[in-house]
Amino acid sequence: MITLIINGLKVTVPEGTTILEAARRLDVEIPTLCHHEGLSPQGSCRLCMVEIEQRGRRRLVASCMFPVAEGLVVETETETVAGARRFVLGLLRDRCPRSEEIAALAARYGAKPFGRLPLGERDLCIHCDRCVRACEEEATGCIAFSFRGWARRVEGPFGEAPADCIGCGACAQVCPTGFIAVEEEGGMRKIWGKSFELLRCSACGKPFATREELVFQGLDEGDLLCDRCRKREFAASFTRGVR
Ligand code: FES
Repeated sequence: MITLIINGLKVTVPEGTTILEAARRLDVEIPTLCHHEGLSPQGSCRLCMVEIEQRGRRRLVASCMFPVAEGLVVETETETVAGARRFVLGLLRDRCPRSEEIAALAARYGAKPFGRLPLGERDLCIHCDRCVRACEEEATGCIAFSFRGWARRVEGPFGEAPADCIGCGACAQVCPTGFIAVEEEGGMRKIWGKSFELLRCSACGKPFATREELVFQGLDEGDLLCDRCRKREFAASFTRGVR
């Protein structure tokens, strides 16, 4: 186990824990954008910067990537940290002026757009890579980034509707700004320029998953239970087993 100090509070956590995870144990809030608990870490947005002191040296590190170390001293709200977050959010305001999530974070840290950068696409994508990681880790890996710099964008191969997309919507669920459009209407789900029929939960009747998703997960249509009903069924069978 490793003991460190965050904002003057001592915390002991298992080796390999990140500063972000240790801070969350103390209910110390650190803003994040590219980080998602269900995905492998990426460390690309740099919003989660904190100041550490180690062997007499102070520096900024990305808390979602930096592993704890014995005796590490961490400060999450110094003026240097606030300045780093303002800088990141200023760039993101330039990149995504229509994003309400970015505007709210920017207002919290007093970040203003720089207004000196190329216009870019002016969409809601902050290039956090969460959607690409979700697709790679939970689905078929059918979307990726193309191009570089300001032209960088997430899309299917050759900019077309991804043939391997199973319509699970994992990419849209993890997107922090709502960039990925997903529409559900009349028992159909539209995403990435494709339409998928939604199958209904056999217990509650709610449309919840695409056939392609079930096939990908190795389930058949006899297993048609939505997450909520599956959990309820599991809890009921557990209770029956205990009696
Ligand atoms: S949340 Fe840590 S770098 Fe993005």
